[in-house]
Amino acid sequence: MQSLIKTGILDRHFCVKSDDQMITLPLVRDPTKVEIDELRKLVPSASLGLGEFEPRKRHPRTLEEALATTVSADVLSRLPKSFDVVGDITLLELDSELAAYQTIIAEAIMEVHPNVRSVFAKSGEVSGAERIRPLRYIAGENRTHTTHKEYGCLFRVDLSKAFFSPRLSTEHQRVVQMVEKGERVVDMFAGVGLFSILIAKKVVDVRVDAIDANPQAVELLQENVRANKVEAKVHAHLGDAREVIRKELTQIASRVIMNHPSASKDFIKEACEALRPSGGVIHYYTFAGENWEADSRHEVEHEVQASGYVAERVLGIHRVREVAPVRWQVAVDLKVVPRQ
Ligand SMILES: C[S@@+](CC[C@H](N)C(=O)[O-])C[C@H]1O[C@@H](n2cnc3c(N)ncnc32)[C@H](O)[C@@H]1O
Repeated sequence: MQSLIKTGILDRHFCVKSDDQMITLPLVRDPTKVEIDELRKLVPSASLGLGEFEPRKRHPRTLEEALATTVSADVLSRLPKSFDVVGDITLLELDSELAAYQTIIAEAIMEVHPNVRSVFAKSGEVSGAERIRPLRYIAGENRTHTTHKEYGCLFRVDLSKAFFSPRLSTEHQRVVQMVEKGERVVDMFAGVGLFSILIAKKVVDVRVDAIDANPQAVELLQENVRANKVEAKVHAHLGDAREVIRKELTQIASRVIMNHPSASKDFIKEACEALRPSGGVIHYYTFAGENWEADSRHEVEHEVQASGYVAERVLGIHRVREVAPVRWQVAVDLKVVPRQ
């Protein structure tokens, strides 16, 4: 069979037939005498004949291909160009007109991507202190928990209980690459532990204190710490980041991660207080519009100054992802030292 495949003689558009006695192969052309001799060396009883074969069902490769005969050209042209995949769950953004086609779109997604088991629609904005997005079930298994893989680590997530975004993976890696051996990191808004666990997995002799105020996020974080075998390096704290830092984590960190863009601003004083007396690096996240670079920089520098510290140097500033038209999540990395 392998040697036949190599000659290209097997017709892949039709199914191979087999029973207890015989296997029958569809061919694209008559075999040459040499090919017949070769085959008979392997299978002395091989014979040539005419037969009917079932056409092979071809797996659609794109959503457009899967829906080409089912919906109008207008609907086809408005299908989502991309969608978020979290573990085996797909999250769709559908406008009100496409919502009428949500079930067939979801079924088509599962046909194109056999690993997808559940499809939900994003039915509102990420909101509240816990940063959870409302979802509407469309098709497949009706569950919001799954296991997501990011850079070799497995994360248990539950989209109805704790924040998770597959769009932050590049940002997670960017920060991971900056952490050096022996550092002490405070992840102030750890969620289910992406920054913390990825850092712990990659960096030697590091300790990460991971804080989150959402008990369900911390439960998943602890599960993820155990699953990725980083118990010795990641210490989970349930509570308000301000209180946890004041009580347990002042002047210990070489680096603080503040990934709570809608509210980081209100926690800058505590982030500065978590830093060692010699200072350290803060990864500050915020949302900003057209003047994102100047606005984000000004916002964080101003708050650092008002907290009695100095933003000695901005190490970098960039847009992480678009969150709305002309609005981005922005990351500012800065070296902060106490004011003398
Ligand atoms: C954007 S999410 C964090 C995402 C996470 N760092 C990641 O990369 O996946 C913000 C998190 O901050 C948590 N949070 C909100 N207010 C908080 C507070 N006062 N103290 C600690 N955590 C808080 C939320 O529960 C949420 O999990």
